[in-house]
Amino acid sequence: MKILGINSEKCINCGQCIADCPQKLYSEVDETNQIIFEDPYNICILCGHCLAICPTNAIIAEEIEDLYEFEEAKDPSKLLNYENLMKLLRARRSIRRFQDKPIPREQIEMILQAMRYAPSASNKQSWNYIVLTNREKIKIFADKVMELYYLLRKVLKLKFLLRFFVRGETRRLLLDPGTKIAIERTIADHKAGKDVMFYNAPCVIVLHSLQYGNMAGADAGIALTHGMLAAQSLGIGTCWIGLAQEAVFRKKKLRKWLGIPKGRNCFGVLALGFPDVKYYRAPPRNKLQVQWIE
Ligand SMILES: Cc1cc2nc3c(=O)[nH]c(=O)nc-3n(C[C@H](O)[C@H](O)[C@H](O)COP(=O)(O)O)c2cc1C
Repeated sequence: MKILGINSEKCINCGQCIADCPQKLYSEVDETNQIIFEDPYNICILCGHCLAICPTNAIIAEEIEDLYEFEEAKDPSKLLNYENLMKLLRARRSIRRFQDKPIPREQIEMILQAMRYAPSASNKQSWNYIVLTNREKIKIFADKVMELYYLLRKVLKLKFLLRFFVRGETRRLLLDPGTKIAIERTIADHKAGKDVMFYNAPCVIVLHSLQYGNMAGADAGIALTHGMLAAQSLGIGTCWIGLAQEAVFRKKKLRKWLGIPKGRNCFGVLALGFPDVKYYRAPPRNKLQVQWIE
């Protein structure tokens, strides 16, 4: 998409584009009182706020899709009230038991479409997705991630030496007896033929993106959250697989195997499938920790 200018016949000079453009690319020309769009330094982030806010649809853009005009766009609070939104959010669970049933491709595409409309820093939308639906490939992927576990088990044997070289959370994890137990249990299950990584999910989505400061991870998190909620609305369960994400992020060989291009990295992995589990209530969460500065 590219903003090309303003249709002066349609423009009513209401100034909404001037007020709303985050990059301040709209301004009023004195003599004519006409609003103009100028972007000499190419800093438009293509957020489309001008297209969305113009009451007469006067902004001219080279669009990649039709604008989506619907009544509730003017007042999104009409779409879903707070109570129902909270139910939607609180009913979302990480699903780790899936039916042995593939997800139709159209539904995977619907989930990806929901991710597409997530907000992102400077509207970067740097997300690309790799969708695995082939059971054998998913198993190979899981096995490759498990290699990291086997390596970790070896590393743990040296923990009394390594503790002098690591700090913070890594040191805590290294010395926590629970870490060894969790790794041993996961390896035992893996050796017994269980899919300890993706829980026999029929679909795995890997998100890769350019790495831009601290924001790439945040942007990926929002996109995948859109996807998780969209999946839920279709009766599809999801589980974010941080372990696989970490392995892909760290292992170049794994990125190569997945076909993630150089210069990009993995910022999220989701397992998806039809749930083979029902939850009757939403579990509690930590109390809010808020510091009000008034
Ligand atoms: C970034 C991230 C990484 C996660 N990694 C894993 C994982 O590797 N394996 C897993 O089974 N669950 C994983 N989860 C799911 C969390 O364990 C789960 O969200 C948390 O326990 C709360 O449960 P709920 O999602 O059902 O509310 C991950 C979740 C997030 C957000």
